[in-house]
Amino acid sequence: MCGIIGVVGASDTLATLLEGLERLEYRGYDSAGVALSGAGGTWRARAAAGTESVLALKLECEDAPTGFRTGLGHTRWATHGAPEAINAHPHLDCAGNIAIIHNGIIENHGELQEELESRGHVFTSVTDSEVLAHLIEEARAAGQDLTEAVRTSLLTVRGAFALAALDATEPDVIVAARRVSPLVVGTAPGVTYLASDVPAILDKASAFYAVNDDEIVRLGPEGFRAIDLEGAPVRLRPLSIDWDLETAQKGGYDDFMTKEINEQPDALRATLLDRRHRDNVITFDEMSLSDDELRDVTRIVLVAAGTSYHAALVAKYAIERWARVSCEVDISSEYRYRDPVVEIGTLVIGVSQSGETIDTIQATREAQRRGAHVVAVSNVVDSSLAREANAVIYTRAGLEVSVASTKAFVAQVAALELFALRLAQLRGTLPERDVEALYLGLQAVGAQVAVALSRRDDVTAVADALAGARDFFFLGRHVGFPTALEGALKFKELTYLHAEGYPAGELKHGPLALIEPGVVVVVVATDPSVHEKILSNISEVKARGASVVAVATDDDETISSVADFILRVPATEPMFSPMIDIVPLQIFAYATARGLHHNVDRPRNLAKTVTVE
Ligand code: AGP
Repeated sequence: MCGIIGVVGASDTLATLLEGLERLEYRGYDSAGVALSGAGGTWRARAAAGTESVLALKLECEDAPTGFRTGLGHTRWATHGAPEAINAHPHLDCAGNIAIIHNGIIENHGELQEELESRGHVFTSVTDSEVLAHLIEEARAAGQDLTEAVRTSLLTVRGAFALAALDATEPDVIVAARRVSPLVVGTAPGVTYLASDVPAILDKASAFYAVNDDEIVRLGPEGFRAIDLEGAPVRLRPLSIDWDLETAQKGGYDDFMTKEINEQPDALRATLLDRRHRDNVITFDEMSLSDDELRDVTRIVLVAAGTSYHAALVAKYAIERWARVSCEVDISSEYRYRDPVVEIGTLVIGVSQSGETIDTIQATREAQRRGAHVVAVSNVVDSSLAREANAVIYTRAGLEVSVASTKAFVAQVAALELFALRLAQLRGTLPERDVEALYLGLQAVGAQVAVALSRRDDVTAVADALAGARDFFFLGRHVGFPTALEGALKFKELTYLHAEGYPAGELKHGPLALIEPGVVVVVVATDPSVHEKILSNISEVKARGASVVAVATDDDETISSVADFILRVPATEPMFSPMIDIVPLQIFAYATARGLHHNVDRPRNLAKTVTVE
């Protein structure tokens, strides 16, 4: 997710853009850029300096022209193309008059670029976004004004966008449009603004409006006019904003963890977007291992830490079930010291949100030293893990700020399950109709997550009812087991209370001795294939006085006879259930921690990325 800002009619255009970009850095910061347009044409500056990109951009702007009243700014979270200045927005058309900024993913950018290049357009970046500048250039050359040029261009585009464009030959105008990626418009006397998020223009605009999907807005100094993709006039929805800046950066939520929990449907949509092309072949842009190399894989080892380890555990079930490849999962810090066996055909997958966890980087280095191919699953483009791997699958969850990982987990599970389907396609271990059905089922998980999110208050009520409990077990079977592990990790790292995840079938082999009145046992009970066994596990702990919280599907009519509290979720394909069942467990941990007045974004003793061994 990137940050975009635009302004028309300002006397302090550049300062407004740079200040707005600083306020949008939480949306991504691997590069930044601005474009100003006025009588002298379009002037652009860009910089790529990681967390200091906006600072570096300010230095690039020291010789910027003055007096320009219209401008665009962008801070990037790379999804296509390395985080280098050449790929930083704004992107220009061939003539250098049109500048565009974009947040989202243009699914069909490849075919559009081929067509545009065949008509003589010259591309200067390795991004999906640049096609927009050249599409608009062609429409303008055909005599369309900037609004119509944007509209007709977007009719050819598939994917997600929050887009803004300016053209030096049509001064004092910005045209913006939105599909999936957020976009707001702000007005003040004589000046009109646009931004991905309110924080960028919070103290500039006095009125705010939300742009809805497939709406196009023409901004001028005196205000704006909006149309839909067919060109019919629409009215933008006014927003009532009474936030301070920090609240605005959290999207109006109390903290980044709540914001990121609620971003999970979008994270899933973005991670799964643009992953299947012609003839239904599942593809990964950065998968440089050939189909033959993947087909010849005989054993897969996933290495990861923390939450990423739990996502990797879920992947084991999917890879073995769908692709019939032997699969094991190892804690990164253990893998590298156990003199691992690596044979011809061994593929090692390093899973890491940050791509900077030194344990996982060292584990994949050890695997490569021993001759394994390595695939990185990373949420950060060009992270150390991604750079060193033979191939990469990027999750596109957007920047994750809160130490407790939430949206990265569901994005990792989705990406790894998609990879398992690709392996099944290559190995012919699933009929294509089953791959298709599972692929479509994955696409529907985001909506099911949204249903689980809508039940937040029910979960909070259970957390409040159990306030004061000090000992927690999280149990599950099959893919419910890694879900239970992840629920326990969220709980312990946020509440600082004892909580452990366990295979439900293991309880009687020892831990059952710990169960007594006052202990809370949370059970993931959504998988029909093991439901009967789970019910008997619940009876075991109930008989010893435990309070039982069950995560159960909406259609489960037996669970209420054994569980004290029920957290309802939509039923789904069992292999997808960790992405949905984890939502009430995230909220349960969050609500309990808030009840203890903990800082949920920065739990004690922990860091977002562990770069020391
Ligand atoms: C999870 O909530 C923790 N923040 C932590 O366990 C984290 O998942 C782990 O450090 C791995 O981080 P990574 O995914 O960036 O490699």
